Amino acid sequence: MRFEIFTLLPDVIPPYLEVSILKRASERGLIQVNIHNIRDYAHDKHRVTDDTPYGGGGGMVMKPEPVFEAVETILGQRPAQGQGQPVPVILLTPQGRVFTQRVAEELSQHERIALLCGRYEGVDERIREHLATDEISIGDYVLTGGELPAMILVDAVSRLIPGVLGDPTGAEDDSHSMGLLEYPHYTKPAEFHGWTVPEVLQSGNHAKIDRWRREQSLLRTFNKRPDMLEKTDLTEADTNFLKSIGYK
Ligand code: ADE
Repeated sequence: MRFEIFTLLPDVIPPYLEVSILKRASERGLIQVNIHNIRDYAHDKHRVTDDTPYGGGGGMVMKPEPVFEAVETILGQRPAQGQGQPVPVILLTPQGRVFTQRVAEELSQHERIALLCGRYEGVDERIREHLATDEISIGDYVLTGGELPAMILVDAVSRLIPGVLGDPTGAEDDSHSMGLLEYPHYTKPAEFHGWTVPEVLQSGNHAKIDRWRREQSLLRTFNKRPDMLEKTDLTEADTNFLKSIGYK
């Protein structure tokens, strides 16, 4: 999977990618993150990338020319006019569709995606209309730019690429991947400050452990995110268990 990140702050991104799982994924060629400085595509003397808004008002707006040139140079053509499987050009913006595990799964099917990080008050509307093919928000709040959202997206999508997580089933039980929150985890010691690890996890009985974990997932989701239960597929055993704890 190749990520092409377009930003005015190229230095903020690498430190996060150069540690732990994402570092190993890059070294093993499972992901490649290329960072492009939009300012390199501004050709005036001061390499200006923003300007005041038409119509007045505060703040600055990112100019279209350097952003179009950066993306078209790296992707080879205007993405919306491309042939074959187009590379999605995702504008990170609080106005986009909300990023969820489902969206991460959808994006992980692509071989290459471009991420466009906005700064200032926003980007010239022509970038949104004629360059971006998708818009994504990481939540209903406003950040100073799209760099953190882009990194979040790279992280969530990368860990879905086969081989990135050490454990091949690592992503399957995650909170949200099955439409439920994940069950609780414990490690050694079996007793800490008088708090003990549930007996069943120490029993070695895997059928019982699987059942306990499923029920804990259901219980947690019921307590913390009951809205998720409306959207997920439940077995008869799940429904019976939920009834026993007071759901519907
Ligand atoms: N840029 C600023 N805020 C954002 C958000 N919530 N999601 C994506 N990009 C953003």
